[in-house]
Amino acid sequence: MAAVAEAIGPDRLGVRFTPLFESTDQDRVYIGLVEDDPHATYVEAIKVLEAAGIAYLSVAEADWDNAPDLPLSFRQAARSAFSGRIIYAGRYTVERADSLLSTGLADLVAFGRTFIANPDLPARITNDWPLNPLHPETLNGGAEKGLTNYPIHEARTDPVTA
Ligand SMILES: Cc1cc2nc3c(=O)[nH]c(=O)nc-3n(C[C@H](O)[C@H](O)[C@H](O)COP(=O)(O)O)c2cc1C
Repeated sequence: MAAVAEAIGPDRLGVRFTPLFESTDQDRVYIGLVEDDPHATYVEAIKVLEAAGIAYLSVAEADWDNAPDLPLSFRQAARSAFSGRIIYAGRYTVERADSLLSTGLADLVAFGRTFIANPDLPARITNDWPLNPLHPETLNGGAEKGLTNYPIHEARTDPVTA
């Protein structure tokens, strides 16, 4: 991280991590990152990132169904320790994102699968249009189906470019 910051400037550097990833599902195996006290470990890591002056933290929350929620105490500790932008992702709906943003504990919320299924997601959110359902079976496939063939909303008239 120090080397990248040196090369491009810490204000152009972000770090993504998955804190507190303690699985309660025996079928899931996560590689590494199982600490005795993950809360304390990640907050200490955030202090290191703060000292380095990086631009943002991108926090990937557990994203499987019925995953435990990231505790409020962790979000508060992250906010206190870090003065840059904080982004959260993981199973957010617009309502949950709004609710988190309104607490001031996050600067941005990212959408993953919802964006894959809805290429015009910002327009759909802005206009309160319904969302396309996700087809999870195509998420990690090797062809275009499931990644580029989700429809844009019929009311959308301008081309979707991104
Ligand atoms: C097909 C797919 C590929 C992903 N690849 C990455 C990746 O390379 N690196 C990463 O940090 N997260 C990756 N993610 C995780 C997402 O960035 C995000 O954290 C996760 O999907 C939870 O957000 P969601 O519930 O809005 O989908 C991927 C997710 C999906 C569905």
